[in-house]
Amino acid sequence: MWLWPVPGTAWLLGLMLLGCGLARQGGSVLNCPPKCVCASNIISCSKISLGTIPTKLPRFTAVLDLSHNNLTRLRADWTPVRLAHLHSLMLNHNALAFISTEAFCHVPHLRYLDLSSNSIKALEEYLFSQLQELEVLLLYNNQIAQMDRSAFDDMASLQKLYLSQNQISRFPVELVKDKAKLPELALLDLSSNKIKGLPVAALKSLPAWIKNGLYLHSNPLSCDCGLYELFTHWHRRQLSSVVDFREELVCSLPQAKRSISVLSLNSQDALNCSEFKEHMLEAYLGDTVTINCDAKVRGATREWVTPTNKRIPKEAANSTITVLGNGSLQIRPIQVEDMGTYTCYAASQAFNETLYVEVTVHNFTQHGPHDSLNTAYTTLVGCILSVILVLIYLYLTPCRCWCCGHGKQAIQQEDSIHSSMLSTTPNHDPELAGCKESLNRHVASGATQGQNGWAQPWVMDLHANGTTLLPGATARYVAPILLSHQ
Ligand SMILES: *[C@@H]1O[C@H](CO)[C@@H](O)[C@H](O)[C@H]1NC(C)=O
Ligand SMILES: *[C@@H]1O[C@H](CO)[C@@H](O)[C@H](O)[C@H]1NC(C)=O
Ligand SMILES: *[C@@H]1O[C@H](CO)[C@@H](O)[C@H](O)[C@H]1NC(C)=O
Ligand SMILES: *[C@@H]1O[C@H](CO)[C@@H](O)[C@H](O)[C@H]1NC(C)=O
Ligand SMILES: *[C@@H]1O[C@H](CO)[C@@H](O)[C@H](O)[C@H]1NC(C)=O
Ligand SMILES: *[C@@H]1O[C@H](CO)[C@@H](O)[C@H](O)[C@H]1NC(C)=O
Repeated sequence: MWLWPVPGTAWLLGLMLLGCGLARQGGSVLNCPPKCVCASNIISCSKISLGTIPTKLPRFTAVLDLSHNNLTRLRADWTPVRLAHLHSLMLNHNALAFISTEAFCHVPHLRYLDLSSNSIKALEEYLFSQLQELEVLLLYNNQIAQMDRSAFDDMASLQKLYLSQNQISRFPVELVKDKAKLPELALLDLSSNKIKGLPVAALKSLPAWIKNGLYLHSNPLSCDCGLYELFTHWHRRQLSSVVDFREELVCSLPQAKRSISVLSLNSQDALNCSEFKEHMLEAYLGDTVTINCDAKVRGATREWVTPTNKRIPKEAANSTITVLGNGSLQIRPIQVEDMGTYTCYAASQAFNETLYVEVTVHNFTQHGPHDSLNTAYTTLVGCILSVILVLIYLYLTPCRCWCCGHGKQAIQQEDSIHSSMLSTTPNHDPELAGCKESLNRHVASGATQGQNGWAQPWVMDLHANGTTLLPGATARYVAPILLSHQ
């Protein structure tokens, strides 16, 4: 074993068995392709100047190493048999320039695919879509300049995607933003490409566990203060993508034509960006506030502590402060006393993290300090207006009715019961309908009083319960109705 300086423990067992295979006559094990070395389900055909892939591969192959050869094409029929057990395929260090969109039809359970150090120039649409169990995809050190937006569609298990050292000029925002696309993706390496601009707003809104694995260093980024703010925040959060590659995270200044560290853009001889301040949560009195515990590790368990160092219970129904099922903190409704720094302890097997969120609460509601006064004022105006409206209605309409109502009083009295005070829509036909309706209304009161409404405008009948109210009381009832219709 000391003869084989191989990385990865998975190989050790294989290589021990391999030793046996070699002892048994230079790799001519049954099922083993010529010149390859085989160890049970591991087939190694590395560094044998292969120009084509051996066709007679055993069906039980789990690991296939074809690295360091002279392969130029990966066709749909590269394996005529379905390799249902294959989980690792190494094709790195070849001359692959063509990969058929059907190349992976026969290897549906692949979990690890190494295509690094080849000559791939473009990724066609749905190229990897058959690989629904693939977890790691290595594509670094190729010449990829074009990536179809659908190249990585349906890769439900992909966790790590290495695209560094290519010719990519557009940040493939769809890979991280559309969570349905690559739901498990936690590492996306786009370093050493040709990316000049980043969608800063979209990147800001990503959860920390994605940002932690989003490598963007060694790109010809153009400097601006948005970039400074973005990466300063990542640095303060101690995200690996920035902390580990601080020096390589550079951008070019438009005039000076020189590269400068993104994290130093606040200096006077650079862009003079304003000093970065960590975002504070601002809330208004009575708001419902939800604070996410944006942990660096996915699926961490979260515990929250109040500014006064009290542990916050989970899903406490009758508490104003509670931790929701997804680990977020909710304060409902927030009071001025809730102001302060909240602490979230995110714990996982790999990493423990403490996050602080500073919450300030304004001593007024969101609509301004005079909000309650405003409401009262609006209500008052509404009341007065409705009183005026009602009075206009009463004083003006009976006149017309009275004028045209000569000789029609018999009919009018019949319908009077069905009249409604609640109707605020004026009538459009003054001659007929308007006349009839307003007549009905007033005759209604007239019916109870035995008089025309014109003669006694102050008394009105709310026919719903038949009570007679004084004008002041009526206004109190009408006003809210009018307001609610606004
Ligand atoms: C690799 O293939 C190319 C063209 O197919 C050929 O010119 C070259 O000699 C091959 N190299 C080796 C090492 O076989
Ligand atoms: C940067 O800002 C400071 C203070 O605002 C100012 O004094 C200085 O002149 C600015 N430098 C440049 C290069 O704009
Ligand atoms: C919920 O309310 C009950 C009764 O008011 C109280 O005894 C209990 O401690 C409260 N629970 C929490 C979590 O505040
Ligand atoms: C947790 O749930 C709350 C309410 O359903 C939601 O507002 C919040 O965004 C969620 N947090 C995360 C991190 O998804
Ligand atoms: C995280 O904290 C928990 C308890 O708070 C501890 O058991 C665990 O070992 C810690 N993990 C790490 C990686 O420090
Ligand atoms: C809110 O502000 C007013 C004055 O603007 C003050 O009288 C009141 O005590 C404050 N309320 C709280 C809870 O701080």
